[in-house]
Amino acid sequence: IEAALTDGPLKGRHILITSGPTHEPIDPVRYIANRSSGQQGAAIAEALAGQGAQITFITGPATAPRPKGVNVIEVETAAQMLAATEAALPADAAIFAAAVADYRVEEASAQKIKKSGAEAPEIRLTQNPDILKTISNHAQRPKLVIGFAAETNDVQAHAKTKLDKKGCDWILANDVSPSTGIMGGAENQITRITRDGTDPWPRMTKRQTAQRIATLVAEALA
Ligand code: CTP
Ligand code: CA
Repeated sequence: IEAALTDGPLKGRHILITSGPTHEPIDPVRYIANRSSGQQGAAIAEALAGQGAQITFITGPATAPRPKGVNVIEVETAAQMLAATEAALPADAAIFAAAVADYRVEEASAQKIKKSGAEAPEIRLTQNPDILKTISNHAQRPKLVIGFAAETNDVQAHAKTKLDKKGCDWILANDVSPSTGIMGGAENQITRITRDGTDPWPRMTKRQTAQRIATLVAEALA
């Protein structure tokens, strides 16, 4: 409500954001996860809301505080995130900042798995749906679809491949190799990859990164 009343270049626009990790259950007490804090996604949501956009923020179990002035939808798994994202369409833009688990346990156990003898249990994995790719190819595709790519090597080449494979409009590529200190830190250093070329940004805080994204989204939707 607060965000909808904010004036700005994105007034009247609906923007979807996915954020945070997903948790994929193994049994009722255990899950597969990743280290995404959800900080960058939350900062993007607040920056876009500050420009007047109406935000649907679909988040996995992230540690970062939820953004203010936006519609927050909490999910746990990739499957739930996909369902919530599709249900939130139509949108003018969609930004996929979530670190979605690539795999889930094929058949999560209904009961807590107990130790039995010396044998370690085998856990069979199956691939999760690709939410970004699904929405990029959706009948109700938003005009602007933005994906992220965290890479440790050949950053631009991998990111360019992702742009083509997923069919989105921009990939915001991040070099997360250990030497950069980006992973788990307060800063980001992004290269924006579009079909027109590459646009390297200086290293800056996640909040500044979010502001830059919001400015570019407003320009693209104008
Ligand atoms: N993504 C998604 N659904 C998935 C996997 C990824 O929506 N099941 C989105 C992420 O939110 C991100 C982009 O796709 O915006 C790229 O995620 P990434 O993990 O880098 O790409 P993958 O295709 O999973 O490739 P890989 O992990 O093998 O590098
Ligand atoms: Ca992945």
